[in-house]
Amino acid sequence: MDSESRTPAREELPTSWLGIEEAAAPFAGKRTKVDVGRRWPKLVKATVVAFIVMMAPLLVLIGGQPAGAPAVWIKSTVASLAARGEAQKDALLGGLLVPGFDEPSCASRYQSVHYRKNMTRPPSPHLLRRLRRQEALQRRCGPGTEPYRRASERLSSRQSAGDGDGFVATVDGCGYLVLISYRGLGNRILAMASAFLYAMLTDRVLLVDPGKTMADLFCEPFLGASWVLPQDFPLEGFRDLGEDAPESYGNVAVNRSGSVSGLRFVYAHLDHAASPANRLLYCDDHRQFLHRVQWVVLRTDSYIAPGIFLNPAYREELDMMFPRKDSVFYLLSRYLFHPTNDVWGMVTRFYNAYLKNADERLGIQIRVFDGDEPFQHILDQILECTSEQHLLPGVVTTGVGGGGAPPLVVRSKAVLTTGLNSWYHDSIREMYWRSPSSTGEVVSVHQPSHEEHQHFFRSIHDMKALAEMYLLSLSDKIVTSGWSTFGYVGSGLGGLTPYIMIKPENRTVPDPPCKKAMSMEPCSHGPPFFECTKKEIDKIIDTGNLLPHVRSCEDMPWGRKLADPIT
Ligand SMILES: *[C@@H]1O[C@H](CO)[C@@H](O)[C@H](O)[C@H]1NC(C)=O
Ligand SMILES: *[C@@H]1O[C@H](CO)[C@@H](O)[C@H](O)[C@H]1NC(C)=O
Ligand SMILES: *[C@@H]1O[C@H](CO)[C@@H](O)[C@H](O)[C@H]1NC(C)=O
Repeated sequence: MDSESRTPAREELPTSWLGIEEAAAPFAGKRTKVDVGRRWPKLVKATVVAFIVMMAPLLVLIGGQPAGAPAVWIKSTVASLAARGEAQKDALLGGLLVPGFDEPSCASRYQSVHYRKNMTRPPSPHLLRRLRRQEALQRRCGPGTEPYRRASERLSSRQSAGDGDGFVATVDGCGYLVLISYRGLGNRILAMASAFLYAMLTDRVLLVDPGKTMADLFCEPFLGASWVLPQDFPLEGFRDLGEDAPESYGNVAVNRSGSVSGLRFVYAHLDHAASPANRLLYCDDHRQFLHRVQWVVLRTDSYIAPGIFLNPAYREELDMMFPRKDSVFYLLSRYLFHPTNDVWGMVTRFYNAYLKNADERLGIQIRVFDGDEPFQHILDQILECTSEQHLLPGVVTTGVGGGGAPPLVVRSKAVLTTGLNSWYHDSIREMYWRSPSSTGEVVSVHQPSHEEHQHFFRSIHDMKALAEMYLLSLSDKIVTSGWSTFGYVGSGLGGLTPYIMIKPENRTVPDPPCKKAMSMEPCSHGPPFFECTKKEIDKIIDTGNLLPHVRSCEDMPWGRKLADPIT
């Protein structure tokens, strides 16, 4: 069953007042079928290079030269790879990824390193240990295993999955965290990354509800295991669970004093607008009562990591996993999200056609919450931001055609714009077409697509949206719209600290038009507002001051984001 037909009310929600439903803008034009052979040029080249490197001494020994044409081709390939420093790149990202996957079935996993800058935050040894442990857990308890079969049987037979003194979650040592997918793709990606963190901390197998589109978007992240919730998952109607459900964490914590007896599962409702009682889950010490439940079903549309960092129960573990607090999403997203070959083809074709040869790439992600039509104040905000932060040159408007002869040697800057409306892209491009830039730089402006409206759970729409987020992450610098989860994903995945355009009020350009963010981490739109040691859910406190690394977001003062403390 697809989520769309099951939960129409949720999927059709208008952009909430928090505005966190995400824009996604696909490529224009028809989907074209791609010859599989054309998708692996790098792989083929790499193999040929390796072969030639091994063969070179042999050729010298023989003193012969193979047929002229191939030798020339091979030489230029080696030269171009070497010139781009690609030969030495570590495709496994310092142990973050494991070898052993079938490379052609998911080319992005090993090829993306050639499109990216070097990792700015290497994974800690402890994070690597926890990832290996999680992979082993997913293999031992995941779908297709005996423990999984037994656990689903217990769930479907209405047997209690927890009781006052039992430790049902430790039956087979297998507990499960099921993530419901809803809202836009940006939200879903933030939810998946942070749910994965929660699964690691609580030693649960993560199973993601694939909705309609997940199989078209991502490869499996775990070797020899699946993170996709099986079609025959026995919990009827789990996508319709709401925060008033008897199984909700809020109800268990407030009305049942933490007793899970008689419950088959616990429902964790961490939607951005969740009630304070349900947000108590952020303070759950899994050693207290959630660990007695084998199945936890989680609904969130947000990046829940900052709330988890506020929980004292996980502080020590998290400090060891992430010595640098600004790179949680960066590392987890590089570990988890490998686009399928279809999406990767869209990314690489666009990149190679429009972005690759520029001296510098700037990504501009435009999300407007006032409506889909073009707004002058948004264009003004973009131009004032890029000018103030020296991201784009101004134009010379004096005299016809800007006057003066064009310089012979030019530096090029490619701008990638993404958004629902093409007017911003067209206007910026026109500006640099009609007049020369004040610095002599050549500025080209590209937008893969403009969809006008946001759609939910349409495969091709989501594929284009993912390709665009990925392309943004390949920029050298990035400007994003405040409140936009699409922008959070683009920055975080690329390890880029964004310039965030604060959401305008009263349709006027805010002052300043944008701010350099404190970190590349996404903002959590629905964090807890109480202290876990006190759990006073009726008394709102400023959780942005409790820890030096959990702070108030630039674009949403009540949101929370992770950042390294200012030293
Ligand atoms: C990236 O890392 C490789 C080694 O893995 C190194 O040779 C190269 O110089 C680095 N590039 C930059 C720009 O730091
Ligand atoms: C506690 O129970 C009451 C009465 O059934 C219900 O109205 C309320 O929503 C419950 N509280 C929570 C947090 O679920
Ligand atoms: C927006 O306009 C309202 C009413 O004119 C005013 O009260 C408010 O301060 C304005 N907000 C900003 C940020 O300028």
